[in-house]
Amino acid sequence: MKADIGLIGLAVMGENLALNMENKGFTVAVYNRSVPGEEGVVDRFVSGRGKGKHFVGTHSIEQLVGSVKSPRIIMMMVKAGRPVDELITQLLPFLSPGDVIIDGGNSDFHDTERRVKELEEKGIYFVGTGISGGEEGALHGPSVMPGGSVKAWPLVKGILQGISAKLDDGSPCCEWIGAGGAGHFVKMVHNGIEYGDMQLISEAYSLLKNRKGLDNDAMAVVFDEWNRGELDSFLIEITANILRFRDEDGKPLLDKILDVAGQKGTGKWSAVTAMDRNDPLTLITEAVYARLLSALYSERTKAASLYSGELSVERRKRIDNSQLSTDDVRQALYAAKLVSYAQGFSLLRRASEYYGWDLDFGTIAHIWRKGCIIRSAFLQKVTEAYRKDPDLENLLFDDFFRSKIRAALSSWRRIVAEGALSGVALPAMSSALSYFDGLCTLHSAANMIQAQRDYFGAHTYERTDCERGRFFHTDWTGEGGNTVSGTYSV
Ligand code: 6PG
Repeated sequence: MKADIGLIGLAVMGENLALNMENKGFTVAVYNRSVPGEEGVVDRFVSGRGKGKHFVGTHSIEQLVGSVKSPRIIMMMVKAGRPVDELITQLLPFLSPGDVIIDGGNSDFHDTERRVKELEEKGIYFVGTGISGGEEGALHGPSVMPGGSVKAWPLVKGILQGISAKLDDGSPCCEWIGAGGAGHFVKMVHNGIEYGDMQLISEAYSLLKNRKGLDNDAMAVVFDEWNRGELDSFLIEITANILRFRDEDGKPLLDKILDVAGQKGTGKWSAVTAMDRNDPLTLITEAVYARLLSALYSERTKAASLYSGELSVERRKRIDNSQLSTDDVRQALYAAKLVSYAQGFSLLRRASEYYGWDLDFGTIAHIWRKGCIIRSAFLQKVTEAYRKDPDLENLLFDDFFRSKIRAALSSWRRIVAEGALSGVALPAMSSALSYFDGLCTLHSAANMIQAQRDYFGAHTYERTDCERGRFFHTDWTGEGGNTVSGTYSV
């Protein structure tokens, strides 16, 4: 009997997805490239975790493709970048028009856009799908974000929705996202939001530890409590578990983990893409910068010793006078999180317009409710906001968001001020507050920037007493000419 799908790449995600597919009733042909150090992976899998199940072990691309029923669906779970293109090249001689290739890795959406076009010219459908949920999600039900050749959707829908997480009402955490690179774009923003959430949680942890003086067990209780309220989410839940976790010697493992954060690139891509779309994605970008700063370990060590005197005096002074409450920290975390999601969805909106993807934001929030890393109760509120108004310009304009920001605002300001006064770095909480204040400022200081640009470079400016779109230049020094620079903006 031929397999329903062929899966290439039996690393952590691939192996668990294969098991998930089989568990949902699909027969899966599996293949793993045989390179030094990775020999025998297929046989070990088929006779190990896959034993007695509906798997077909294959040892070449040709054999894999030949084992799958037509139209063939071949899914790749390999490292993003060149390996994906190399595999496509190897697959092509064995595929026929109407077959589908799915890329389930964290690929750059630009690559996915290109691959969809190149393969459609050859009659092959290409689906770039985000898959979130880590190892456990892959096995029991991830959140799945497919996009690409729309004609492939009816062919892959059964499998992708079948393996995805299900909400309590039975709806799958997998819906068609859009054409081209839309699926991978949405996964990239998911990861950017993941960076933001993680940074905010680490700032809350820093405040509770350094300003409230709580030990790990006490902090675990706080996070547990937060997880029962409006912050109810996977990342808050695991934070409590991490705080309680003991190393073999009985001491908290967290305290022994070096404070140097790694990254595989999706957060950075979100920040760069936001710049490309003129979108102020400040919180996620700060979260990326925070990881980069954490990685400058030797520079930080030197700076800490150079400025240790000044910082410790300030910190001690503040600790003595601190009025900081645990609930202030929670409110600041929550308000900044609202800003982060507002920014993430704003980037999705701008990209949707630019690429013509027609993204359904309510559905995107819906399929993030379960299975993925940023899953949370709060995403239901995002769905509700977009169901009420699909053209919502900014989530912060929604009544729910507005009422929550209002309620948290004074705590949020207190916390950011406390961080500044006591030398506790709060890049995400404070940049979110600056964004919020900037957004709500009717008469900002950008008039000064425009005046300066015109003064030194004749870049022209618009006037408050004229209609928008008319540009003026002033000879500020009396020595300038009449020639003006272009008024274009990138
Ligand atoms: C997910 C995660 C996952 C990501 C890791 C590592 O949704 O399951 O986002 O896709 O690869 O979390 O990301 P960083 O190494 O960039 O932190």
